[in-house]
Amino acid sequence: MSIKPDAAVYGGPRARDPPPNGGPSSSTSTSGPASPPHRPRVTLRTLRAKYAAGERITMVTAYDYPSATHVDAAGVDVLLVGDSAAMVVHGHDTTLPLTLDAALLHCQAASRGARTPLLVGDLPFGSYEASPADAVRSAVRLLKEGGMDAVKLEGGGGARVAAAAAVVGAGVAVMGHVGLMPQAISVLGGFRPQGQSAASALKVVREARALQDAGCFACVLECVPSPLAAAVTAALSIPTIGIGAGPHTSGQVLVYHDLLGMMAHPHYRQVTPKFCKSYAGVGAAIQAALGEYVDEVRSGAFPGPAHTPYRLDAPTAEALARELRAGGEAAAADAVEAVVAEQGLRAAGAGPG
Ligand code: KIV
Repeated sequence: MSIKPDAAVYGGPRARDPPPNGGPSSSTSTSGPASPPHRPRVTLRTLRAKYAAGERITMVTAYDYPSATHVDAAGVDVLLVGDSAAMVVHGHDTTLPLTLDAALLHCQAASRGARTPLLVGDLPFGSYEASPADAVRSAVRLLKEGGMDAVKLEGGGGARVAAAAAVVGAGVAVMGHVGLMPQAISVLGGFRPQGQSAASALKVVREARALQDAGCFACVLECVPSPLAAAVTAALSIPTIGIGAGPHTSGQVLVYHDLLGMMAHPHYRQVTPKFCKSYAGVGAAIQAALGEYVDEVRSGAFPGPAHTPYRLDAPTAEALARELRAGGEAAAADAVEAVVAEQGLRAAGAGPG
């Protein structure tokens, strides 16, 4: 997977093209954010090197072009296009409704925005459970059509381990996921922490090891007690990535919207898990900005002269008013003349606005 193999026969995949000037400019922005300095693309070799050196691995979810550009610019190692999109983007109560086609759209958008992190696409519920052949087909689509580098699947029972082995055998890198598996809430009885009895904790260790033996390159540990996460991390020779699993893992992952404090809505605050740390109050900033916009439109303060860039010069305005009047459109002609006169007055009084 390395793009700069030291001793490879072929060059491998090229570095992704940088987004122009940090990304396409929006209709209101003439210059995008500055391009982040060039960093080599993260591959499985990079992660193995970090793991061997005891460096913690960073992982964040993203679901579209703008979130991916932010994650990339922050220097995050692994970008997960998570099936959490079902909840934080599509507004469902669980991850179950996300389809493979919807996941592919998120993967495509995110892959356009990120050129450095390893891109991991979640296999959605229903896209890989029925057979290893289904798992391979869906995983191949996430790479071929979605632009991902690797996939993630949930569960470490026999069928999932067989699926993981088949996908790795097909040449697709797989990240495992044990502990709380949101796709399994039907059998888990809800979003509940796992591994809180000795038997259930041992099951988590065994499942993680089975996924490692199936060829997974890393394993997510979700919502398990910290001593269990430490035990799994010690038992494995691949990185563990924790979420709600305490500090004793090889790396950490958070959901983009949770990390940014994106949702100001009280319902979302209620469903944001206890283990999440919000590093910003982006939701509150968005809400305040939208409220200000609504107020300014209603009061007429927006758009003011600074945001009214297109003019008619005086001869053109006069010609237009004349034509309108000749065509019987007196009210329209009056409107042209009134606005041009008002702009003229403003220009005379306050300089070019
Ligand atoms: O979908 C997701 O966001 C995840 C993370 C919680 C690991 O699977």
